[in-house]
Amino acid sequence: MKAKKILVAAVAAGALLLTSCAGTGGGSGEGEGGGGLIGVAMPTKSSERWIQDGDAVKAALEDQGYTVDLQYAEDDIPTQVSQIENMITKGAEALIIASIDGTTLSQVLQDAADAEIPVIAYDRLIRDSENVDYYASFDNFTVGQQQAWSVLNGLGLAELDGTPIDGAPEGPFNIELFAGSLDDNNAFFFFDGAMDVLQPLIDDGTLVVKSGQTDIEQVATLRWDGETAQSRMEDILTANYSDGTTVDAVLSPYDGISRGIISALTDAGYAVGEDWPIISGQDAELDSVKAIVSGEQYATIFKDTRELAQVAVDMAVALLNDEEPETNNTTDYDNGVKIVPSFLLDPVIVVKDNITQTLVDTGYWTEEEING
Ligand code: BGC
Repeated sequence: MKAKKILVAAVAAGALLLTSCAGTGGGSGEGEGGGGLIGVAMPTKSSERWIQDGDAVKAALEDQGYTVDLQYAEDDIPTQVSQIENMITKGAEALIIASIDGTTLSQVLQDAADAEIPVIAYDRLIRDSENVDYYASFDNFTVGQQQAWSVLNGLGLAELDGTPIDGAPEGPFNIELFAGSLDDNNAFFFFDGAMDVLQPLIDDGTLVVKSGQTDIEQVATLRWDGETAQSRMEDILTANYSDGTTVDAVLSPYDGISRGIISALTDAGYAVGEDWPIISGQDAELDSVKAIVSGEQYATIFKDTRELAQVAVDMAVALLNDEEPETNNTTDYDNGVKIVPSFLLDPVIVVKDNITQTLVDTGYWTEEEING
């Protein structure tokens, strides 16, 4: 193993020499510092949150004197695999990875393990590999419950913590369901959490899914793509709501999907006001926070990317110092090969009334960014 490490270091030194001769940099972020190189692989820049995650991880590592190779793969799996291969070749001492498809990294992670490089799964669990050392994320089942509670809150059925409201309207309410990408482990946690809350109300007739689409395979959205969600919503509206009935609520797992749903509704003639449905979301993306202010979206789930970045960085630094990273969950995240020790942060529901308290007072967005 030692020999391999030296070999990797030698290859890395050569690679560094080559890149400096050629005058090109491999990564988008090369910080200074004596702490060695850390590879950070992010899925895509097409969603704001991952840009914030990448920036926050890079800044926190550089603060501690590490050099950072931060890469985005634009949701292309082979690109992400080769970016991670490159990080290993360059001599990365640890890898922090937010995967695109959690099942496609087994070979590259074997290469990392052979070079004794610890791996931290960032936000999304990496599946089917024993070579994932730790997992930093949010309580993803709770995220799903919160998305459902926010929908019930908008319909007047429950408080934001899920407590039923006395004298609530009986309904029935028409609801349609969306889930995330099936290659992302989180999508299952979010949907399971949401259905844990919604299924009893579907069973007792308070909520009606007119499309009949309630299985995750039917409601999933590949790569969390907003346009894909928009066209599914258009199809649902045409097939099920052309008879004068209206959709009262839409469970959406992510702000980008919510924006697609909003476009479909607007195109179908819905207007914000009495008949506008209650729509959930996730990530507190700026455009969606604005949509909450304007009434198009009812709620989002705020997951503070700065806190997540700090947890992942602390894990990496602990491992590099031969210390044991702090965890708070060692039961829930089975990746198919092993249970990955995890640190889960608490997500927060954002609705119009608490935007200031949750997002402005915490410095995540400024008042001007939201209202300007
Ligand atoms: C993340 C969510 C995000 C989604 C789409 C999930 O893995 O946990 O925060 O909305 O990916 O990017």
